[in-house]
Formats: sequence, structure tokens, C-alpha cells
Amino acid sequence: MTRHFLRDDDISPSEQAEILKLALELKANPYAQKPFAGPKTVAVIFDKTSTRTRVSFAVGISDLGGVPLIMDAQGSQMGAKESVADTARVLERQVAQIIWRTYAQAGLQEMAANSKVPVINALSDEFHPCQLLADLLTIQEHKGKLAGLKLVYIGDGNNMANSYLLAGAMAGMHVVVVTPEQYLPSDEVVARADAIAFETGGSVSVSKNPAEAVVGADVLATDTWVSMGKESEKAQRVKDFAGFTIDSTLLALASPDAIVLHCLPAYRGYEISAEVLDGSQAVIWDEAENRLHAQKALMVWLDQRAK
Ligand code: CP
Ligand code: NVA
Repeated sequence: MTRHFLRDDDISPSEQAEILKLALELKANPYAQKPFAGPKTVAVIFDKTSTRTRVSFAVGISDLGGVPLIMDAQGSQMGAKESVADTARVLERQVAQIIWRTYAQAGLQEMAANSKVPVINALSDEFHPCQLLADLLTIQEHKGKLAGLKLVYIGDGNNMANSYLLAGAMAGMHVVVVTPEQYLPSDEVVARADAIAFETGGSVSVSKNPAEAVVGADVLATDTWVSMGKESEKAQRVKDFAGFTIDSTLLALASPDAIVLHCLPAYRGYEISAEVLDGSQAVIWDEAENRLHAQKALMVWLDQRAK
């Protein structure tokens, strides 16, 4: 049966581990799998801007023997002129998979409900599950394991926070999300992540105190305070997030061998200091590269189930 990957918990913890293992194999042997040989075409649609996602999917699809068809909302009929459901009905007849970066999660659900080919969330307002596969791969490479590690995310309770909660809990990690009072992650996601953590031996919690939360952290993570679509709130957000910057003072409170993640793009001096982002504990370029390997594994894995 066709599977879709719209949020981090659309796969089980053991399936997550399977995809990460495949990602490592493909990283060591990039051209070993050719599911899109033919070549088949894979649609990659952007309603928001992107560098990493655009490049890593384009390169990944061609590594897997396929042809990437990069589309954007402005250049297609989708949106105001044609429904998501009708777009899905057209695409599923011609492409092997549909990868979409958009705003509302509901749009992705509508696309998947009308597509017999796998649909992948390449970032929505609610989740960024492909980024989390890359982040987990990066943590595993640097720490040799995932389960039992303490991961502290500091910043906006946004798509990245939601994905850290779900995917981290699935990996058996102890995830702490630290946000100002008015930027908490979704209650539904926290409850779901808590239920998952109960099964995997991990834990999730929410805090408003960065200095307290980072003690003993193995992994620190952050993201922009101003996500795509929130640009008009920038001035207010910069005020509200004062004290939530990952800088060397905060980093010094974590485990001495803690690593620092950032999905990028980063705004030095806001959510993270230049010293930390460009320092020896940051693993951000590995993380950016791992988008490629993790997404290739995901596409292979979904292709195997789409028959
Ligand atoms: N991290 C990430 O998704 O980057 P892009 O917005 O450049 O794709
Ligand atoms: N939270 C950010 C992530 C960018 C990759 C955004 O949605 O803009």
C-alpha cells in the first residue's frame, strides 16, 4: 500500500531506524539504488523559498536514476486556479513521487488523499520531517547512538519544534523544547510525542528557562525566530525571544561534548551567536549534507511500498 510522509509519526520508530540505516548505506554508496531508473520523473513543488531542500531533492532524485521536475506555485495552476485534489490527480498519472513545501498541513493531507504515488512533506507550517531524518542521522554519526540522549531545542515552538518532539521521541531521546510563554509548541504534538516516548523509553518536556534546560544536554538545536510566512512579526518576535539565543555562555552549561544543530538558514546574533554557529561544536554542514542521504533513503523506502 502506498505510504506518505507528511509528519514525523507517519512512520513507526522501527521504520525510522530502518530509513536511517538505509541513509548511512546510501551515504557510503551513493549510486547503489536506482528506483527511478527509466528514468521516472519526481515532482518537487515549492510554495515557499528553499536552498537545501531544493538542491538535496534534485540531486537525490538524479542519484536514484530519476529526473526532478521542480515546480513553484507561481508557475503552475495549483492554488487559486486549480484545487490541490485535481493537481494530485494529474500528477499521480505521470510522476513517481510528489514532494511539496507548503503552508498548511491540510494541503498535504488533501494531496496525499488524492494521490496513489507517495507524497512527502518538504516543510509545512506544522512540520519539517525530512529535516529531522537528516538531524537524527547527524546525531547518530557524531554520538554513535540516539536513544537516551538529551536534545534541547531552544526557540520558536514552530514546525522544527514539533518535528523534534515527534521524531526525537520516536528515536527514544529525551527532548526538551524551550520557548517563551507565547510561542509554545502545539498541545496535540506534545501529547502525541509524550505517548510515543512512553513506548520508546524517551521523554518530552516543555520549558521556558534555557539556562536550566540545557544542563546535561548532548545536543542543542535552534531555528530562526521568524519562519517563512511570519515576516511581518519580526520586530515583535526579536523582542519576545530576547534571552533565547544559543551563545557560548549557554553552550557552556550543556555537556562538554554537546553538539549544536541548526536546520539553516541561520541568523547570527539572533537565535544563535556567530561564535557558536561557526564554532567547533556545531555540526551544521554535516547536517545540511545529510538532507541528501536521508531523503534518498526515504524516497527508496517509499518507492518499495508504492507498488
Ligand atoms: N533547512 C531547510 O529546509 O533549508 P531550505 O529552506 O534552504 O530548504
Ligand atoms: N522554521 C523555518 C524553517 C526553515 C527551514 C521556516 O519554516 O521558515
